[in-house]
Amino acid sequence: MKIINSVKGMHDLLPKDSIIWQQVEYVIKDTLLKYGYKEIRFPIVEKTKLFNQTIGHSNLIVNKEMYSFYDRNGCSLSLRPEGTTSCVRAIIENGLLYNKQRLWYYGPMFRYERPQMGRLRQFHQVGIEVFGYTDIYIDIELILLTFRIWKLLGLSKYLSLEINSLGCLNTRKLYCKELITFFKKNKLLNNINNNIINNPMRLLEKYKTLSILKKAPLITSYLDSSSYDRFLILQQSLNNMNIPYNINPYLVRGLDYYNDTVFEWTTNILGSQNAICGGGRYDLLVNNFNCNHSIPAIGCAIGVERLIILINKYNLLLKNKFLIDVFLVNVDNNLKNSIINLSEYLRDSIPSLKLVVDFYCNKISKYRKQAYQLKAKVLVIMGDNTLLSNQLILENLIINEKEIIEKSYILSKLLSILSNNN
Ligand code: HAM
Repeated sequence: MKIINSVKGMHDLLPKDSIIWQQVEYVIKDTLLKYGYKEIRFPIVEKTKLFNQTIGHSNLIVNKEMYSFYDRNGCSLSLRPEGTTSCVRAIIENGLLYNKQRLWYYGPMFRYERPQMGRLRQFHQVGIEVFGYTDIYIDIELILLTFRIWKLLGLSKYLSLEINSLGCLNTRKLYCKELITFFKKNKLLNNINNNIINNPMRLLEKYKTLSILKKAPLITSYLDSSSYDRFLILQQSLNNMNIPYNINPYLVRGLDYYNDTVFEWTTNILGSQNAICGGGRYDLLVNNFNCNHSIPAIGCAIGVERLIILINKYNLLLKNKFLIDVFLVNVDNNLKNSIINLSEYLRDSIPSLKLVVDFYCNKISKYRKQAYQLKAKVLVIMGDNTLLSNQLILENLIINEKEIIEKSYILSKLLSILSNNN
């Protein structure tokens, strides 16, 4: 029988890679905590109508890329293609809407896209969402927060910031009309479906390489004074903070719920999948939930797989030289009880100890090889026939030194090695 492989575009995370993922996750979560963000978790499955009603049928992601299915009760459910909608649903449902919130979530998202490097069908996002703040300075804080994460990961010089303003709803309506006229005049509306007519701004991205597009009207010329001022303050603040950016008038984002500030952090090593993180303000999304409230909101999401590709490419994280403290092994079949007792005694005595035990009575040379593979600082061997019954071999793999010690000294010896090499 043929081996059954994983679903196309959905990958396993192997132990050699999970170590890097954990380091990246730690840096991001720690930074979010320091900025006062709290974690929210919601299911990976939602009712399909949640996405249809709030993001809209005409959106490409909802229309073509969702994994939707019927449950046994005939209810249409979908794997979440993104987290913002679920996050808004969760805060409304749980009565959190009326307070200001700084939230984050982490987990898999699902989109039926054509897989390629940096584009998967199951991918992971760290989402960051802020509710209840209208001020442009929260937009700035969010961008600074992401910039700090890049700095901590050593990535800042490999990422570029693109910003744009999509203005308010009225601006967009007016602008979209003008765009349609422009596209019609230039015969660029052939073979275009209704989805595009509903949001012609997407054509800006689609045709951005055509030279005629340089003549297209730009949304920044249509902004009202409030949106214009916001966008100006954003630029001034980024200048003051010495954060380089490009104003990209073609940046419209793939989801339709944005207004005013939108931004993306991009890289030039991932071809067309160049966005590592994207987001913006979405003051009107809560309204789409029929809860008679408008709550200002802004957020963004970091694509973890793409981030890891960058980290690996530039070899950025300090590959931990040592992953465990002690590899404790036994070369005498009769000592299995003693070795498990010793391992538990050491774990009780040094609670932070990373210790791996092997009971299988291999040769010392094999165990030494295994200790290097495990990236252990110390190899402790019990039961070798050159030893007395109260003795152990201790090999300090940090400095390649070997000695025979009495069992009763093992704790003090380990404490001394580990405290010098933390
Ligand atoms: P998005 O731009 O669709 O925004 O996705 C955010 C990030 O997720 C992208 O910049 C990219 O790094 C990653 N990503 C998206 N699709 C894929 C894929 N197929 N494979 C691998 N990585 C991918 C959102 O999802 C919004 N919910 C962000 C947001 C939060 N806006 C406001 N709050």
